[in-house]
Amino acid sequence: MKDGHGRTIDYLRISLTDRCNYRCIYCMPEQGVESMCHTDILRIEEIAQVVRAFAKLGIRSVRLTGGEPLVRKGVVDLVRDINETPGIKNISLTTNGVLLPRMADQLREAGLSRVNISLDTLDAEQFHFITRRGQLQEALDGIDAALAAGFNPVKINAVAVRQLNQDYLAFAKLSIDRPLHVRFIEYMPVGESSGSDGCGWGPDDVISCEELYERINKAARAEGLPELVPAGQHQPLGWGPARYFEFPGAKGTVGFISPMSRHFCGECNRMRLTADGKLRPCLFSDREYDVRSVLRSGKSEAEIEQDLAAVFRLALGAKPDDHDDITGTERRMSQIGG
Ligand code: GTP
Ligand code: 5AD
Ligand code: SF4
Repeated sequence: MKDGHGRTIDYLRISLTDRCNYRCIYCMPEQGVESMCHTDILRIEEIAQVVRAFAKLGIRSVRLTGGEPLVRKGVVDLVRDINETPGIKNISLTTNGVLLPRMADQLREAGLSRVNISLDTLDAEQFHFITRRGQLQEALDGIDAALAAGFNPVKINAVAVRQLNQDYLAFAKLSIDRPLHVRFIEYMPVGESSGSDGCGWGPDDVISCEELYERINKAARAEGLPELVPAGQHQPLGWGPARYFEFPGAKGTVGFISPMSRHFCGECNRMRLTADGKLRPCLFSDREYDVRSVLRSGKSEAEIEQDLAAVFRLALGAKPDDHDDITGTERRMSQIGG
């Protein structure tokens, strides 16, 4: 279905929970977030019902996010349900990877095809500092499990934060020997990361993708490695905003997601559903449309489907064509799902 600016919206990001087993410094305060009330969260069957209704309106790709989506009970059943939904061609997941060694095979068998794993550093001490609860080995084991289970592509998300002094080349080199797609993401002011609880987003923390690209190439030259070139045959399947490069001969790629320095609103293809059942036309806009009350209206399934379609159209009509100024949002990243 097209929005008011001629963009085809066929990708739904669903946040399954605002909870997480980590507390990344740029995402959540140490004590965690005050969790949404159990009854406020959409049930797994309700989410599946929304997907069925939206698939009829042109949604073809679904990404499950969080918080940490794998801490949500019923996630494997949900993947199976979505996979059986006519019209849905692709199901993907964004996770911190901790639960993948336990769950990757079941998820794959249920029909999940693509996995993105968040990993911001390859230094064990820094990993613990960033996640506050995690150990580097957990994420590395998660990556191994994702590859072993046959997910394709497997992408790594690294948020670049200047104060963290991450080793960008070491990251980029993960793409050489295995089919991993390492993406650097510009740090965005979303929710509390925009300042109010000390998670500390500031414009100086943002490293532009252009700078990252230059720094990786400079470090590669210093090690006698070839520079990055635009990705060819290994360009990963994706419906998202990353631009991909590769080291010649590498099995994977190095991608850049640049919401701060180069908006990609013109190519936006997505709608978002929060864990508490609000449709969000844009990551950076707090305009939301309630689907939970529609799902719980007590009407017949056919009437609910019609009402869901009406809410979807309303949200579609409210999709902005651009964002001039990113000033932060009311909700946190973990409540929106990225
Ligand atoms: P695929 O291309 O399908 O793999 O998805 P993706 O890369 O968009 O998904 P992922 O959940 O891994 O998100 C990677 C980063 O891109 C996260 O930091 C998201 O917040 C960010 N992102 C995803 N979609 C948008 C968007 O529409 N706008 C902005 N500004 N950022 C986005
Ligand atoms: N800016 C950019 N990316 C972020 N993520 C979480 N918070 C931010 C932020 N402020 C990333 C996570 C995860 C993805 C869903 O979004 O690391 O990979
Ligand atoms: Fe959890 Fe992801 Fe937020 Fe880290 S960034 S606390 S892994 S939701």
